[in-house]
Amino acid sequence: MSLILAIDQGTTSSRAILFDQALRVVALAQEEFPQHYPAPGWVEHDPSDLWSSVAATARAAIEKAGRGAADIAAIGITNQRETTLIWDRATGEPIHNAIVWQDRRTADTCAALKAAGHEAMITARTGLLLDPYFSGTKVKWLLDNVPGARERSARGELAFGTVDSFLIWKLTGGRVHATDATNAARTMLFNIATNEWDAEICALLDVPMSLLPDVRDCAADFGVTRPDLFGQEIPILGVAGDQQAATVGQACFQPGMMKSTYGTGCFALLNTGADMVPSKNRLLTTIAYRFDGRTTYALEGSIFIAGAVVQWLRDGLKIIREAKETQALAEAADAAQGVVLVPAFTGLGAPYWRPDCRGAVYGLTRNSGPAELARAALESVGYQTRDLLEAMRSDWGASAEGILRVDGGMTASDWAMQFLSDILGAPVDRPVVTETTALGAAYLAGLKAGICPPPEEFAKGWALERRFEPAMPEADRGARYARWQRAVQATMSV
Ligand code: G3P
Repeated sequence: MSLILAIDQGTTSSRAILFDQALRVVALAQEEFPQHYPAPGWVEHDPSDLWSSVAATARAAIEKAGRGAADIAAIGITNQRETTLIWDRATGEPIHNAIVWQDRRTADTCAALKAAGHEAMITARTGLLLDPYFSGTKVKWLLDNVPGARERSARGELAFGTVDSFLIWKLTGGRVHATDATNAARTMLFNIATNEWDAEICALLDVPMSLLPDVRDCAADFGVTRPDLFGQEIPILGVAGDQQAATVGQACFQPGMMKSTYGTGCFALLNTGADMVPSKNRLLTTIAYRFDGRTTYALEGSIFIAGAVVQWLRDGLKIIREAKETQALAEAADAAQGVVLVPAFTGLGAPYWRPDCRGAVYGLTRNSGPAELARAALESVGYQTRDLLEAMRSDWGASAEGILRVDGGMTASDWAMQFLSDILGAPVDRPVVTETTALGAAYLAGLKAGICPPPEEFAKGWALERRFEPAMPEADRGARYARWQRAVQATMSV
């Protein structure tokens, strides 16, 4: 049986998962890599860490499975989105560390562009808001700040890419400079209506178009790996940003279906079909996937801190040793204290978009301790998801299915998922396979390789592990959510 190798290059770790043709996990390898914080609000990755962790985990997964490159029909790549790299086309050497999606260094550039009245045009074309989150202003920063970069880019010597492009370049030995439509859609340089790079926005940001990769479908030919990497060439046939890959892995192929992935942050995507739905509530309009040149759009709500709040309990406050201890603490907490945590550690994402805002805790008493903070941390993820769903309901109307499919590390906590359902007042579905991001990437590659069925068939294989139904009284739900909203407003005004 043929295997499919999914490469999942995330914000804190790289993972490689081998799937069989029936899309069952055969072997998995994972490697964390260092984060670099050169200044407050700045976040960087060393490109050589990204590449070496991807190459090492891919080899480790193949070895664990006791198989060889000859058994692998295709590679699918999925990745942390927006993170920005520029490298030399001749040597493949990056000119600087990767600037990570969480990095806020271009907040002033965004504010100036906004003040000059450019946001409406950018939103209409890219579906995005003028925020440092996206790649566009990061590319500009690199060109403006790395000595010689402007001159080299003018001479056509440099290439820009999000992490998928960089990995494709490395895997193919510099033969392919390409990305897929979902990753392009996160750069703020790509017109998602015409599916082309936008010359006017590139000019506005001073980004030469010679830097940009070729944009392909999610299930497409992205070249073959260098033969020396795995012993023989393997075709790269699927690429999607991690949240879009999870949307595919969750089989959200029908308009109105939505998923929410709880990794470092939380990203909820609602499939809006062939319609590019503009948001009146500061959500993003983005590309869910593109098959055979046909684009399916999504509304996206992006929260920057979800699982990262549990990491903060562990590494910052040091009140837990392992993430899984959070649930027991939350259960033991005194709910009556009503401690509220607004985890705006790197600003607030959707629907507030306040890069300058920082976190806060409300309602502390002499009795508040680790348990109350742990509970408030888990609850903050539920409240933030409700913020997104309120915005989605208002943008998309009653036709949203109302059921949320969830995945990602934090969904292992029954307590967190029950609270999520309670505070949303909606069912929350946890699938049997929670490796949905890698699954989505593997499926895209398998689809192009002709060894996976079409989307409708694949969707039939989606299996529910547990549905969480809302059990909180309506009055309670309303009062708690109102308290959260007051806490966010107060935090934004400090
Ligand atoms: O937009 C950023 C997102 O793609 C990062 O996802 O899972 O690496 O936190 P993750």
